[in-house]
Amino acid sequence: MDMDLHIEENFPLAEMTTFKVGGAAKLFVRVESENELFQALEMASKSDHEVFILGGGSNILVSDEGFEGVVIHIDLKGATVAESNNGRVIVTAAAGEDWDEFVGFCVEQNLAGLECLSGIPGLVGGTPIQNVGAYGQEVSESIVSVKAFDRLSKTVKTLQNEDCGFEYRKSIFNTTEKDRYVVLEVQYSLAKNGAPKIVYGDLKATFEGREPSLIETRRAVCEIRESKGMLVRQGGLDAQSAGSFFKNPIVSREKLTDLELKMRQKDIVNVPHYSIDDNTVKIPAAWLIEQAGFQKGFTKGNAGLSTKHTLALTNRGNSTAEEILNLKNEIQQKVFGEFGIELNPEPNLIGFN
Ligand code: EPU
Repeated sequence: MDMDLHIEENFPLAEMTTFKVGGAAKLFVRVESENELFQALEMASKSDHEVFILGGGSNILVSDEGFEGVVIHIDLKGATVAESNNGRVIVTAAAGEDWDEFVGFCVEQNLAGLECLSGIPGLVGGTPIQNVGAYGQEVSESIVSVKAFDRLSKTVKTLQNEDCGFEYRKSIFNTTEKDRYVVLEVQYSLAKNGAPKIVYGDLKATFEGREPSLIETRRAVCEIRESKGMLVRQGGLDAQSAGSFFKNPIVSREKLTDLELKMRQKDIVNVPHYSIDDNTVKIPAAWLIEQAGFQKGFTKGNAGLSTKHTLALTNRGNSTAEEILNLKNEIQQKVFGEFGIELNPEPNLIGFN
């Protein structure tokens, strides 16, 4: 084993996550180069430890017992810009780059394609995993390829966009090939001096038909996110969360019709939904949660819902992971009982049996 690898024992993980809860990692190592990463993986495999790859900690809930294995924190840095001849610019960013700073960098260079993804916590490497999306844009629209270490073949591979299986909050990295790849670098194709993507209702309303600049769009997205308690580095108790705790469920149109009939009995004529295809729609989980009786700011012990958005579960100060998990279960049960719709968590649950 290389002596440079700095391995820490019994390392507290709470401060490494946006929820600020959870126990310690048995072993913890921060890797600043691909070489260090390979060594850390080798060390884990030789000592028969489970591995968890930690990025920005903005989409995980760590159990109170912590993680009985090796947590490898990805701290790979660097971003390069290469122009191609068709007005597109290929930007390559290392997995450990701060996502929002990277988006800011692209916007300042007048590169369009990521502007609606401003103000999101986490690191570049996490973005292909759950196909990060917001305000009408998803990273899958601009990702060219993902360079990753394949833990199965122990080789570095470059996966093209179409190999990644991108869907709403989904890719091979969090489904069929979960835990197989460690993202090293992501390539995005952006439009030089391109127009911002203004398709989301909240953004359209902000600009009322006028085409804003990329910088104005970034600013507006951050303001909207702030009003919903979903802005990176917001501070305050609402910020101790993992953003949306549940994915918005995708249901059949028949299910939507059932729901509309049911809601009409309660004098609610509008069930918000977005069309996915001819057969399916996406229903906002936040709305289902509210209709099931949980209001913004709902509190249970030290856990609660954000005061600004019912989709964010929050640590109100001294919450345990168990309190958050109990609230999650209660919400899932109520929503299922009321509407027969299953809510699936968006964050990864780490160290739970
Ligand atoms: N709503 C409520 N109560 C609330 C908030 C929202 O009933 O407290 C209802 C309203 O009907 C509203 C609808 O939910 O129109 C949608 O709300 P919003 O526009 O805030 O979006 P969302 O569906 O809750 C998704 C993403 C967010 C992303 C926004 C904007 C998921 C799971 N979440 O939230 O992503 O920022 O759209 O595009 O898809 C994240 O993944 O962590 C995240 C913050």
